[in-house]
Amino acid sequence: MDHSIAIAPDDLVQRHTRPGMSLVAILHAIQDDVGFVPPAAVAPLARALNLSRAEVHGVITYYHHFRQQPAAPVTVQLCRAEACRSMGTEALAKHIEARTGCQFDAHKHGAHDKQGHGAHEDGAVGLESVYCLGQCALSPALMINGELHAKVTPQKFDMLLAAAMKQVEQPA
Ligand code: FES
Repeated sequence: MDHSIAIAPDDLVQRHTRPGMSLVAILHAIQDDVGFVPPAAVAPLARALNLSRAEVHGVITYYHHFRQQPAAPVTVQLCRAEACRSMGTEALAKHIEARTGCQFDAHKHGAHDKQGHGAHEDGAVGLESVYCLGQCALSPALMINGELHAKVTPQKFDMLLAAAMKQVEQPA
């Protein structure tokens, strides 16, 4: 799939790099700007910060927040942190994977996705793990396309997913 962007990777890095900025801060700025951190930006980032490409790549893959390809039309971000785990997040995650046919964090694993499920390469849904959405008292919590939902049951998820898919198929 073509993940090219309208701006050259060197220009993108230059646009978001200021003296003294950390790599993580620059990665946030890039992802906020174009929706993901293009793999082609790794080399210019390494040059700009005097790091190795492996170091830059390591930071991008360490943090769940950063994605290296555009988000799926329907992106589900499920909280996998403690409070949600104690309220059944893992069972909910299994339900979500079965329902969507996708695997959590396949966008991170890329070609190494052991079950061979491409994230959303072949479909409309992407599943991402996140760690605390500030809704611990109302867990399990998740976001669908940036909209927060609390006390999510499998049944509630099915309804939310159906609504989100409908929106993608028939944008307002
Ligand atoms: S632990 Fe899930 S919202 Fe805080």
